[in-house]
Amino acid sequence: MKKSYDVAIIGGGINGSSIAYQLSKMGKRVVVIEKNHLACEASSAAAGMLAAQAEIEEDGPFFQLALKSQAMFPDLSKELLEISGIDIEFVQKGMIKIAETEEVAKEVQQQEAFQQCWDPEIEWLDSHSLRELEPSLSPAVAGGMYLPNDGHVQPAKLSLAFAKGAEQFEATILENTEVISFIYEQDRVIGVQTTLGNIHCNQVVLATGAWASKLMHETGIDMTVYPVKGECFSVMADSPIINRTIFSDKQCYLVPKRNGEIYIGATQVENTFDKSVTPGGIASLVERAVQLVPQIKDARWERVWAGVRPQTGDGLPYIGEHPLWKGLFIAAGHYRNGILLSPVTGRLVADLLEGRPDEKLLSAFRIDRNKEMVH
Ligand code: FAD
Ligand code: GLY
Repeated sequence: MKKSYDVAIIGGGINGSSIAYQLSKMGKRVVVIEKNHLACEASSAAAGMLAAQAEIEEDGPFFQLALKSQAMFPDLSKELLEISGIDIEFVQKGMIKIAETEEVAKEVQQQEAFQQCWDPEIEWLDSHSLRELEPSLSPAVAGGMYLPNDGHVQPAKLSLAFAKGAEQFEATILENTEVISFIYEQDRVIGVQTTLGNIHCNQVVLATGAWASKLMHETGIDMTVYPVKGECFSVMADSPIINRTIFSDKQCYLVPKRNGEIYIGATQVENTFDKSVTPGGIASLVERAVQLVPQIKDARWERVWAGVRPQTGDGLPYIGEHPLWKGLFIAAGHYRNGILLSPVTGRLVADLLEGRPDEKLLSAFRIDRNKEMVH
């Protein structure tokens, strides 16, 4: 094993791999250290929606970060195909944010008015017009916000495309290797201790998703990052049941993938790293999905899975430099939107390490935004 690099990235999920891709493309000697294998956690459990407008309901730094990242996908999908040979299955056929009742319709109509400032093609459709677009939708839905430019990707493929792309630019990927601790010298972090031995480097990036607070603790920071399990299932049909993503609320969405599979998610179970799938969780999803799209009950059952989202105390990710130790950086806590945010996270962190931080965009995501975190 080579023992010295410019940058060591801890965590081979989508964010670690995206950062590795951008840094190695800049010519840095990068190593990604993953305790299991690439994209084995949240980054392969996700539905892959790029749902900035459906998931985020108010303007602010988080929404602007999400829009910036969303806009990167059309070019990125072509670039990654060329460099890594992996097709991330970027589909841009739109999304409908459903209002199941008249009461919810009022709320969604308010969101539509705000979202039109960013995309004038977003429009409110009544139940009849919605069913012209998506005939399989239940006639019981009150209406919905139509987002014609929304899209989704295959999250595991995006994650692997970043990693493979990084390898094309000479990055090293070390799987089955856990980082146990940092190596410190005066006021700097100068490397990591791993289960395979020590690795020295100029800079370290912690991108360990829901596990981020564990290694942060020894650096003097109590960072609130905790797991929120999400269970999903998928079905297949001989001919497409829906063409666009149907997003009812944060606990029920249907995403039609390019191979004909429809991903249906997802539950929200706080404070557990246990990825088992429960009959109760799947039953609640089936019930909601069939209410929205009755034909789902006749589709062919495909599979179930679960993953662990990295949630933070205030709901915002941590992207920035460690406040106490030079050379240490963090990119974790992307909660429900880590696939959407992975392109911008890679770019922002790479620029930060290069000494060109986008202060304006990054300031809301600083590690020390809550002062009580330093212990
Ligand atoms: P992870 O993918 O969790 O990767 C962290 C990696 O670090 C892991 O591989 C882990 O093994 C490794 N690691 C941890 N500790 C160590 C250590 N000490 N040493 C070495 N390696 C270590 N987001 C969207 O944008 N759109 C969606 O539609 C969407 N749907 C979702 C649906 C579900 C059911 C779930 C669970 C999540 C969904 N998300 C979605 C959220 C998204 O999946 C996450 O935000 C994202 O994958 C987080 O990526 P990450 O790289 O930060 O973390
Ligand atoms: N963004 C979808 C989910 O986290 O379930």
